[in-house]
Amino acid sequence: MSVTVLGISASPRFEGNSDLLLRQALAGAESAAAETEYVRLCDLNITPCTECNFCYESGKCRIDDDYQTLCSKMLEADRMIFATPVFFMTVSAQAKTLIDRCQCLWAQKFVLKQPLITTGRDRRAMVIAVGGTKSKKMFDSIRLTMKYYLNVLDMRYAANLFVNHVDALGEIEKHPSAMNEAFRLGKELVTAPKAPDQPLDVQLT
Ligand SMILES: Cc1cc2nc3c(=O)[nH]c(=O)nc-3n(C[C@H](O)[C@H](O)[C@H](O)COP(=O)(O)O)c2cc1C
Repeated sequence: MSVTVLGISASPRFEGNSDLLLRQALAGAESAAAETEYVRLCDLNITPCTECNFCYESGKCRIDDDYQTLCSKMLEADRMIFATPVFFMTVSAQAKTLIDRCQCLWAQKFVLKQPLITTGRDRRAMVIAVGGTKSKKMFDSIRLTMKYYLNVLDMRYAANLFVNHVDALGEIEKHPSAMNEAFRLGKELVTAPKAPDQPLDVQLT
């Protein structure tokens, strides 16, 4: 059976910089015979969490929108590659809306103490982020948010690809190494015998 890889693109820009890196990473995964799926959050209807706490008793989210299908995909995939632009020092609104809706998974795990997935699965994720400036702290918030999000999803945080000082639409294609690194890391996410103890941290300027 092929390793399955779910790519989630959280940029509002079609073929934005993080989106282009995600596609390269998925191409890298495919080069290692993985079965990939690409999802663009802007194409989906996912409304924000209303904090109704229905999930604290049911483990389910009662909002009936595209989150339900995407949630199943996130739980089924062997690997996930999550790509976001840096907006105000954190993930995009599209990304944050999806992450907040995963509160029902948090409730299922930590309030109701029900397992999300079959135990013993090797699930891993990689995070891609691109920011326009050179601020030193621009990925700090994303690191922390993704750490907790991936923990809720029962996924090992295997790698980051963070690129700064890339702003204009599609500018990433002119970067000397980012596209190649995305391909390499996407391939490695599939082929590495196990997830590293700490996320592999690739930061490029
Ligand atoms: C609403 C908004 C907020 C942004 N905030 C930041 C920021 O805090 N730090 C930064 O370095 N770049 C910021 N940028 C620039 C984007 O991160 C940059 O253009 C990036 O290349 C976008 O990636 P994308 O093409 O994948 O959407 C912001 C852009 C927008 C539109």
